[in-house]
This record gives sequence, structure tokens and C-alpha cells, in this order.
Amino acid sequence: MNLPTYVRLVEVGPRDGLQNEAQPISVADKVQLVDALTEAGLSYIEVGSFVSPKWVPQMAGSADVFARIQRKPGVVYGALAPNLRGFEDAVSAGVKEVAVFAAASEAFSQRNINCSISESLARFEPIIEAGRQYGISVRGYVSCVLGCPYEGQVSAQQVATVAKELYAMGCYEVSLGDTLGTGTPLATRTMFEAVTAYVPREKLAGHFHDTYGQALVNIYASLQEGISVFDSSIAGLGGCPYAKGASGNVATEDVLYMLNGMGIDTGVDMNKLLLAGEHICKVLGRVTGSRVAKALLG
Ligand code: HMG
Ligand code: MG
Repeated sequence: MNLPTYVRLVEVGPRDGLQNEAQPISVADKVQLVDALTEAGLSYIEVGSFVSPKWVPQMAGSADVFARIQRKPGVVYGALAPNLRGFEDAVSAGVKEVAVFAAASEAFSQRNINCSISESLARFEPIIEAGRQYGISVRGYVSCVLGCPYEGQVSAQQVATVAKELYAMGCYEVSLGDTLGTGTPLATRTMFEAVTAYVPREKLAGHFHDTYGQALVNIYASLQEGISVFDSSIAGLGGCPYAKGASGNVATEDVLYMLNGMGIDTGVDMNKLLLAGEHICKVLGRVTGSRVAKALLG
């Protein structure tokens, strides 16, 4: 079987992981987390969001976090931007790469960003255009690719249509998100097969939430489809404020353990990653969501 020899892990813990936390988390604690993730060798860290603070209060301090993190050359520190206002705020904060986020389901699009899928794509166009002018790369997300909390089933063709649009508009990579975590391996493969009819597989990433315990096996199914970029969250933190019941993203420690065991390189140091996870769990007063961290740290 032709599995990739290198996988790029996109660490979304500081954003997807923390955005759902009701308790206040200080800028210093967020900065500490990002710096610890840099230290662990991650090459892409999603640090925050430039969204409405009324919609996602936890991300309100993102500019302060960006101002204080230690940036390591070669590491991408990304942020979400839902509209041109968010993009401009991100640029002012020194962000060099942003992500726009669409959904494969109309109902989720309305609940998450208060507009239809086509309206969201129209909002992203000027962001991508401005990105070209400023030399800022834009990553695209599609949520609800294997199920929607409001609409139930989502067709692979619908996912392919939205992913195709984002790619055609100029997103250099499109991350396909199982926001609900309900997907299973064959559905994952079918979904990637539909999308790769329009978007090259090396331009796609998998973003799996582990709500139903399916994330690792879905990542394995994605590897079999030739996907080699995966989003994950330290200690399995997270959820989505607009997907009730969505628990954390797949834990970075768990993905790393699986990839290490398969001889797939990531450049990430397990011991340093465990330290980063242990620290943020202490800050949050939370038991880790990573099975590997539980096993290795006892
Ligand atoms: P809206 O209410 O339709 O927008 O929200 P609006 O243009 O009418 O503005 C409303 C208010 O927000 C105004 O303030 C604007 O100034 C302000 P007011 O006059 O009421 O005081 N505003 C902003 N403030 C700061 N930054 C901005 C911004 N834009 C407007 N960029 C909007 C539309 C998109 C802004 C809103 O719905 C929003 O911020 N949504 C964010 C939702 C979000 O962050 N969700 C979580 C991330 S997605 C996710 O987790 C899924 C993913 O992980 C993949 C997966 O798991 O599948 C990516
Ligand atoms: Mg997510």
C-alpha cells in the first residue's frame, strides 16, 4: 500500500480547541500553549480567530496572542478570518496566513457564519484577492463533510462542490472537516474520492473530531486515499460552538503515536508534545482527551 512517508500536522488546539471554552483563559496561557507547540516541532499552528467577539468570545484576544508568541522561522501561525474585516484585523496583528471557513450544509453555514454557502463564498473572494496583494496564503475549510447537526446526511457531491469552489477561488489547501465526528472509514473514503475528482489530493487535508471515537480510523482511511495533511488538537481539546455535542478534535498526541508506529515522519517530538498537553490541561483543570497522553503520563 502506498502510504505517505511524511505527514504535515496542522495544530488547531489554540483555536478549535479553545474557542469553545466558557472559562476565561488568559493571553499569557494561550501564548504559553502556542510556544510549547512550536517547541514540540509543529510546523503549522492555528493561533486564533478574527471573528465577532459576540459570536465566539474566547477568541477576542487573538491579536494580543499574536503580538506575544515567539515565532520560529519556517513555522506558519495561522488564524481564521470570516470576512474582509477579519482579514484586515489579522493582517494588522501580523498574521501571515489566514483560513476561511465554509460548510457543506446550508443550515450549518447559517448557524456558524449567518449566511448561505454561496454568500460565504462571495465573502471569501475579496479575502483571497487581498491575500494575493499582501502575499498572504489562504487556507479553506469545509465543515460538516460527513454529517450535519441540523440536516443529518450530507452528500459527498455537495462536499466536492464546495471544496472545488474554494480551490478554484485560490485556497492553496482545503481542509475537509467532520465537525460532528459521526463519519466512518468507508464514508470518509467515498467523500475523498468525490472531492479528488475536482481537487488534487495533495491540496486536501482531513479535519476529524473524535466525538464518536472514529477519528483515527478515519485518518487511516484518508491516508489510504493519499491524504497527507491532518488537523489535530493538543490533548483533544475542543468542539465547535455551533455543533452541539461535537467533542474535541482528534488529539495530536494520538495521531502522532499512530504515525510514529507506522514509520511516517512528522517532525514532531512526542515528549515535548506531551508536556504542552499536560500544561494546558492543568490550566483548564481538565483531564486530557488524549488516550496516548493518559497511557504515557499515567
Ligand atoms: P453577522 O452578525 O452576520 O455579521 O456575523 P455583521 O456583519 O452583521 O456584524 C455583526 C457584528 O459583528 C458587528 O458588530 C460587526 O462589527 C462585528 P456590532 O455592530 O454588532 O457591534 N463583526 C466583527 N467583529 C470582529 N471581527 C470580525 C467581524 N465581523 C463582523 N471579523 C460573522 C457574521 C461571520 C462575523 C459571525 O457569524 C462570526 O463571527 N462567526 C464566527 C463563527 C466561528 O468562529 N465559528 C467557529 C469556527 S468554524 C469551526 O470551528 C469549524 C472548523 O473547525 C472546521 C470543522 O470542524 O469542520 C473550521
Ligand atoms: Mg473543527
